[in-house]
Amino acid sequence: MKIGVIIPAAGSGRRMGPGVWKPLLPLGGMPILARAMLPFQRMPEVKEILPVVPERMMDRCLAEVVETFRVKKVKRLAPGGKERQDSVFKGLDLLGDGFDLILIHDGVRPLVTEAFVRNLIAEMKGCDAVVPALRVADTLKEVNPEGWVVRTVDRQNLWLVQTPQVFRPDVLRKAHLSAGAAGRYGTDDAALIEWIGGKVKVVPGDPGNVKITTPEDLRLAEILIQRSDVFRTAPYQKASGRQPAERDRPSSETARAGQPRRTSGRTGS
Ligand code: C5P
Repeated sequence: MKIGVIIPAAGSGRRMGPGVWKPLLPLGGMPILARAMLPFQRMPEVKEILPVVPERMMDRCLAEVVETFRVKKVKRLAPGGKERQDSVFKGLDLLGDGFDLILIHDGVRPLVTEAFVRNLIAEMKGCDAVVPALRVADTLKEVNPEGWVVRTVDRQNLWLVQTPQVFRPDVLRKAHLSAGAAGRYGTDDAALIEWIGGKVKVVPGDPGNVKITTPEDLRLAEILIQRSDVFRTAPYQKASGRQPAERDRPSSETARAGQPRRTSGRTGS
């Protein structure tokens, strides 16, 4: 099985403060984005991980995340688009064909685990996409801009959807092209599959797979990391020992341009 992973991480994330690019913020000693990618790096079926980042952050992303934490399956970076959907589309374009499945995972969900991803992939039967989700536990109210309650929404069939989301590549491409042609924007990729009549399966999400949106989320994630053994294992360490000689290093400029890197001894698995 050949799997490609797209990591949209090109949002501006204003709720963290002006000028802060969330994916580089440290969490338990390593950038959020590194944590979001490392479980995929460990999976032999994953052949390429493609982060989509703001153009101005590409060099820092390569140096501070990809090289420092040896995320070797990153062969290139894609520049982000205006909306999340545009960013994913650019990633899809660059990733190309030849994958049996495409996974899309937000670069601001750093507590994803390999076991969780494997479970999602195993559910990919008789459908076009699999998404993890949690039942809504709180009461939901629709509120107008003036702060008055309009109505209480029945939460019976409502779910909070997470990433990673798993897709059949042909259906995902078709859905993105259709949405693009119609000028329709969704806040996740599964929505685009729904719009073309595809079958999206929901499986239980992980309450620990938090999305980092505010400083409070970051503090919560720190606590979850301290309490979990999973995040203390070897893959979550900085690269150490001999650094590759200058001539062996991937060229930031080459990777920036979306070209595969030509490096000796740095294959993808
Ligand atoms: O803002 P939102 O919750 O949609 O962001 C989800 C993910 O999509 C984040 O990792 C964010 O960086 C990414 N994103 C992107 N390009 C955008 C907007 C968001 O890659 N233009």
